[in-house]
Amino acid sequence: MRASVMANIQKAAFSSSARQLKHINSVTVIGAGLMGSGIVQVAAQSNYNVTMVDTSDAALKNGQSIIAKSIKRVAKKKFGEENTSEQQAFIDKAMSNITVSTDAPTAVSATDLVVEAIVENIDTKQALFKALDQAAPSDTIFASNTSSLPVTLIAETTSADRQSRFAGLHFFNPVPAMKLVEIVRTDVLKDEVYESLVTFSRNTGKTPVECKDTPGFIVNRLLVPYMMEAFRILDRGDAKAKDIDVAMKLGAGMPMGPLELADFVGLDTMKFIIDGWAKEGKIEEALVTPSKTLDDLVGQGKLGRKSGAGVYEYSK
Ligand code: 3HC
Repeated sequence: MRASVMANIQKAAFSSSARQLKHINSVTVIGAGLMGSGIVQVAAQSNYNVTMVDTSDAALKNGQSIIAKSIKRVAKKKFGEENTSEQQAFIDKAMSNITVSTDAPTAVSATDLVVEAIVENIDTKQALFKALDQAAPSDTIFASNTSSLPVTLIAETTSADRQSRFAGLHFFNPVPAMKLVEIVRTDVLKDEVYESLVTFSRNTGKTPVECKDTPGFIVNRLLVPYMMEAFRILDRGDAKAKDIDVAMKLGAGMPMGPLELADFVGLDTMKFIIDGWAKEGKIEEALVTPSKTLDDLVGQGKLGRKSGAGVYEYSK
């Protein structure tokens, strides 16, 4: 085949895939908790039009107040302590990119990307996405910020076409500070949808990594067994909590020790992940063995920082 013909074929193929690449302008984030509000914030700071959705005005107010505090830290860091007018202009611009709503179907009716960050319950997530699938345009990309549920299973209640536009988009806490996003690629995800999510992640200042739809993806698959092993040291009485944390901070350069981090992530979340993996049966038994210390703390309602007590006590 002549070189010019070949070049034309390649050009045509490229322009057809470029046509399919979804340009994301507007984003709807469902869930105004710590993760949801963090995702709203980083998208708004990066000039996306963002709608933050939750079921009550109180939840939305809470999300707005998390953003207001965090964005001040970001602005100070970006412009320096003394440049208060630049800080304020940055904050005002980002905040003006955010609208709030308690009406999810209307919010997604003209949006390019939906990111869900609600409770880690498969039935709740599936019901939500089933409803959103009817309300959103056919080319809207759906993503879940799930940390522990299979993305393929969450997507099951949507149409086959939507499933090919449905990925995991896993951010890390605190979202404005952590630079990683895991993009979870299911077996049916279209390449161009994956590419759109790569572009979106980069535009929000994050570094995306690609992973398959397997338990824990990359980070939690490594991090959760490590934190569980710290609880098992406590179970056996081999070391005290403070010493375990100091050891990993000073001996392994971790920003937080494993038990501090577990309190930060939430002990209920830790237990939910480990119990879910044990039930799924896809991970070696030794890694999903429960910890009595963790189970007792969760049983007492000591869920970590958010509840005022976990492995450690936190003054209000
Ligand atoms: N909003 C905006 N910026 C924030 C922030 C927030 N909520 N929290 C921290 N930052 C920024 C600060 O501005 C600061 O920036 P600078 O160093 O460039 O000035 C930087 O982050 C460090 O913050 P601090 O100095 O206040 O405090 P530390 O140095 O103690 O860092 C930390 C805090 C970033 C939370 C650090 O301790 C850390 O990295 N901890 C580990 C967190 C981690 O592993 N997260 C992942 C958990 S797993 C997960 O989320 C997955 C889920 O599915 C379970």
